[in-house]
Amino acid sequence: MSKSIEKRIEELRAEIRRHDYLYYVENMPAVSDREYDKLFAELKELEAQHPELVTADSPTQRVSGEPLEGFETVHHVVAMLSMDNTYSEEELRGFDTRVAKGLGTKKYRYVVETKIDGVAVSLRYENGLLVLGATRGDGEQGDDITANARTIQSVPLKLAVAAKRKKTKAKGSLFDTEVEIPDVLEIRGEVFIPNSRFRKINEEREEAGEPRFANPRNATAGSLKQLDSRIVAQRGLRFLGYAIGQVEPSIFESHSDMLAKLQLLSLPVNPGYEIAENIDEVIAVCNRWEKQKDKLDYQIDGMVVKVDDLAQQRTLGATSRAPRWCIAYKFAAERAETVVKDIRIQVGKTGALTPVADLEPVQLAGTTVSRASLHNFEELARKDVRIGDTVLVEKAGEIIPQVVEVLPDKRPTESKKFPVAKKCPECKGPVEKDENGV
Ligand code: IVH
Repeated sequence: MSKSIEKRIEELRAEIRRHDYLYYVENMPAVSDREYDKLFAELKELEAQHPELVTADSPTQRVSGEPLEGFETVHHVVAMLSMDNTYSEEELRGFDTRVAKGLGTKKYRYVVETKIDGVAVSLRYENGLLVLGATRGDGEQGDDITANARTIQSVPLKLAVAAKRKKTKAKGSLFDTEVEIPDVLEIRGEVFIPNSRFRKINEEREEAGEPRFANPRNATAGSLKQLDSRIVAQRGLRFLGYAIGQVEPSIFESHSDMLAKLQLLSLPVNPGYEIAENIDEVIAVCNRWEKQKDKLDYQIDGMVVKVDDLAQQRTLGATSRAPRWCIAYKFAAERAETVVKDIRIQVGKTGALTPVADLEPVQLAGTTVSRASLHNFEELARKDVRIGDTVLVEKAGEIIPQVVEVLPDKRPTESKKFPVAKKCPECKGPVEKDENGV
């Protein structure tokens, strides 16, 4: 085997990894797609000629050939806990009071991050190589989804120390951070599907006669459960890290230090983070993001507030369910007022009838809403939605809007209760109610 071919293969892999990082993590491609494709084709060609040189961490090896039979169960060495929620400024201040009490000092600061609405996943690197991707499961045990995680383009198969950057996006991250690749590194974060991709997937599913996904989170969860990673690769999943599991040796001093160092290891981290020196700043950051959340191309359902210092995190500890050093602040679902123009009955594939409201188009959470699901006839009767009614619609982390309630003062005098369907609108056949069903 000529040394120079081996060397060229390694060169190409390093070059492609660097371009993947710049493209998928930094959003700053350094070469054209054409140049990138040329490098990739050359690598593929050399690997085809020398199959003995193909390694699992090669950029050509993201998608495996054969579907799995099922997922193995994996035990999390460090449990993946859940998080407590707050819904108001007052509750956030209550959290801060508990933190101050628990630490016995006022000297601490927070990191405030966007709360990405996807599926939590843990990625394990040993000696810089991705060896495991696992879902959260019950927090103690999850599914081994390594084959699916490998298809996510922004997830490096091999860690590399990225060149130091002069400017960092986030305030407070370290400029002169030095980092070495730890023997074991588990990064935890959210896998999600960007909104634009989600809309495309649903369009394609509709054309193929497949059921639409209700929201990007469901589409993500469904994709990660796929046993065929070739299908997963087409879903365009993304990953952003925001926490760690097992790390040996430990190299992080604070949460913000960790985010900076993970970036230097070429890992994608949640870009929506800011340092807050006190609870007033935390609240200001939360309010600002709540207003601009629809500018992002992915769903966030709130903010996560974390005590920055890892030693202080350890002092505060955790309950059996959730850490005491962090809290989620959930955004209120946005609502809008509009008029029900019509109520239609949709017939599903299984023959289920779903009443749907046609609405006067209204702007809500960044999109125009002109339809809302009424779920079923019991729900419709409970809310007593009628044609001509003025209603409040809401998008609670879901892409499909819901009718929250009717505004009775605005009801036209001549309106009538909407009747339960007696006949199928399509086949005109009789309608039955499932036992225990709706
Ligand atoms: S920290 C122990 N940070 O929200 C808590 N979680 O509702 C470690 N999530 O299970 C998680 N964005 O899946 C953290 N910036 C963020 C997050 C985040 C989304 C998810 C995560 C968690 C869930 C809890």
